[in-house]
Amino acid sequence: MPKYPVEPFRIKMVEPIRLISPQARVEAMHTAGYNLFALKAEDVFVDLLTDSGTGAMSQSQWAAIMEGDESYAGARSYYRLAEAMQDIFGFEYFVPTHQGRAAENILSSLLIKPGMSVPSNMHFDTTDANIRARGGRPTNLVMEEGLNPKSQLPFKGNMDLELLRDFIHKVGPQNIPFGTITVTNNAGGGQPVSMENIRQVAEIYHQNGIPFFIDACRYAENAYFIKMREPGYAKKTTQEIAQEMFSLADGAFMSAKKDALVNIGGFLAMRDQQLYQNVCNELILREGFPTYGGLSGRDLDAMAVGLREGLDESYLAYRLGQTAYLAGRLQEYGVPIVEPAGGHAIYVDAGSFLPHIPQAEFPGQALAAALYLQGAIRGVEIGSVMFAHPDPDTGEMVYPHLELVRLAIPRRVYTQAHLDYVADTLGELSQRCNELRGFRITYSPPLLRHFTARFEPL
Ligand SMILES: Cc1ncc(COP(=O)(O)O)c(C=O)c1O
Repeated sequence: MPKYPVEPFRIKMVEPIRLISPQARVEAMHTAGYNLFALKAEDVFVDLLTDSGTGAMSQSQWAAIMEGDESYAGARSYYRLAEAMQDIFGFEYFVPTHQGRAAENILSSLLIKPGMSVPSNMHFDTTDANIRARGGRPTNLVMEEGLNPKSQLPFKGNMDLELLRDFIHKVGPQNIPFGTITVTNNAGGGQPVSMENIRQVAEIYHQNGIPFFIDACRYAENAYFIKMREPGYAKKTTQEIAQEMFSLADGAFMSAKKDALVNIGGFLAMRDQQLYQNVCNELILREGFPTYGGLSGRDLDAMAVGLREGLDESYLAYRLGQTAYLAGRLQEYGVPIVEPAGGHAIYVDAGSFLPHIPQAEFPGQALAAALYLQGAIRGVEIGSVMFAHPDPDTGEMVYPHLELVRLAIPRRVYTQAHLDYVADTLGELSQRCNELRGFRITYSPPLLRHFTARFEPL
């Protein structure tokens, strides 16, 4: 039996949840068009849809909220956030944004022209869509082992450096407005990226005059993986590791709803003064004045405290330990998952779990729907519903390498019993996986279709 880490906190407030009947789940799924995003949250028992904005804030964060300064410009809350930003990220300039995609939108709108490419290890959904929305081409260059669920390498989020060099050579650096890397790699199993790889990627971008921006959502989990796994980092603090990571980049964008432990928030940070001025102009048009950027003062304060708490090493040991525990329990049942366990989530390999369902019939969606029907557990498909797209040159459908169902663990929310319930339910489901059938899409918007698509069982 894998070991469950003792939580470095105790619970002061509770939120009741309820398990509705199997028949009520069937009706709820039918009404939702088999899209788990369309379910009422109260009809979900254990909600692993996302770790984004779903965490529990600490007593210090709630106390900081009471100190929020709601001045339109120059609020004290902004300066407290700026101090945390400086201590951790060290960029010359930053603006708060209401969440990660707002930062991605501003960066994309300012830098991308139609036909340009933006390489990454793997872009996550909103980054991918914001690049496409400006006529750009998001390009994933993760190392080959990052696409192999069974490979045990410690840093499977690393970019393939040869592929990156060849890609820049092929499209020309003038057609790459910025390059990025996602830490940890959310679209590819939540796998970490090594410091060595970040350094080499930065060097390649810089040799070609390409600005380097880090998608920093889960930078603290990535820093802890570096501390645990990369030679030379065991004695460094996670804050020192984070400082080193960001010293290699020209900027970063972040959804603070992840490792900054808040329910809403984000930022865009950079070194270039001219870019900062342009960002401020765009921000004022769409988000708000640069000292609040679409957030209230109290949100900025919660984020300032959360950024520091997210780096706490006893919290990170518990967090990564909790994910590893769920991975171990699922492996006991023989459920195929992306190995080794990532930071924030378990990724069930739906392609291997349901080999009889072809990609065009969405095996990940089939598994996610079945998991809800079986135990009112909500995960999210990360496969062809989310990422299949027509090739911009040929119009042919391009399918992603992996068909996954992500079970994202909200921060400081669920206990060992909840995770055991998830493992046992998936274990039961694995007994009858050959009964599951695929899906057909009945409605689909042009971008980010997974949020609002509707399905019909085949
Ligand atoms: C790697 C990554 N980048 C960007 C985003 C977008 O952040 P947000 O949902 O705050 O817009 C997410 C959110 O899930 C993410 O995981």
